[in-house]
Amino acid sequence: MSEEARPHRTAAVIPAAGRGVRLGPGAPKALRTLGGTPMLIHAVRAMAASRAVSLVVVVAPPEGAPEVKNLLDEHALPERTDYLVVPGGETRQESVRLGIEALPDGITTVLVHDAARPLVPVDTVDAVVEAVRDGAPAVVPALPLADTVKQVEPREKGEPEPVVATPERALLRAVQTPQGFDRETLQRAHRSETAVGEGATDCAGMVERLGAPVVVVPGHEEAFKVTRPLDLVLAEAVLARRRANDGF
Ligand code: C5P
Repeated sequence: MSEEARPHRTAAVIPAAGRGVRLGPGAPKALRTLGGTPMLIHAVRAMAASRAVSLVVVVAPPEGAPEVKNLLDEHALPERTDYLVVPGGETRQESVRLGIEALPDGITTVLVHDAARPLVPVDTVDAVVEAVRDGAPAVVPALPLADTVKQVEPREKGEPEPVVATPERALLRAVQTPQGFDRETLQRAHRSETAVGEGATDCAGMVERLGAPVVVVPGHEEAFKVTRPLDLVLAEAVLARRRANDGF
């Protein structure tokens, strides 16, 4: 089949195997509820809301795969969206790799989306998919920073840390997910010894280590990551506002 005739099929891989210790004690982060619904279900729905996404692969906590499968069975997804559940690994990177390995043939574009970003709007998802389909091998949604950032020499907790540098804020972006990839590029990154390993906290960083181009598209303030207890309060407020607006 020629390149033009090859159909584009997009899958979303959702790493959801983290414990979420920074949120405090309780269930694994992805299973905590927002507005009465598990965070993971919000994240899956956010991906399935895009008409481009035909498959969602959820990477579950290693012992939690049956529970996650039941959860997905209980919450209806659009008919056009299939889903798979696979057990995750020790690190986010390993969990993503296990999700990628479960992808069937025919998927050409892969989104990697944190379960911990349950409220990303569909327009952001669509913009990432479109940029990949337009030819970018790796695409990340990102926002300018509100805070000035300092590079420091890390010290023991609580000790003053010497400042090493102040990067120019206008040149910095805070990256979000879903990050979008041409499937072949993402697989190459996860198989490359240069790209895999310490220090790469996102898949786009691994692609950069391969020397492949990565581009940024505008992110969204509602795509924030739920990491600390205050983020839960903000997420509940965003949901409540959406529900109030939908009521009109
Ligand atoms: O810990 P952090 O907030 O950076 O996690 C980002 C995402 O990676 C979360 O959705 C989390 O569930 C996932 N993760 C994973 N497997 C791990 C660690 C984190 O799927 N071992």
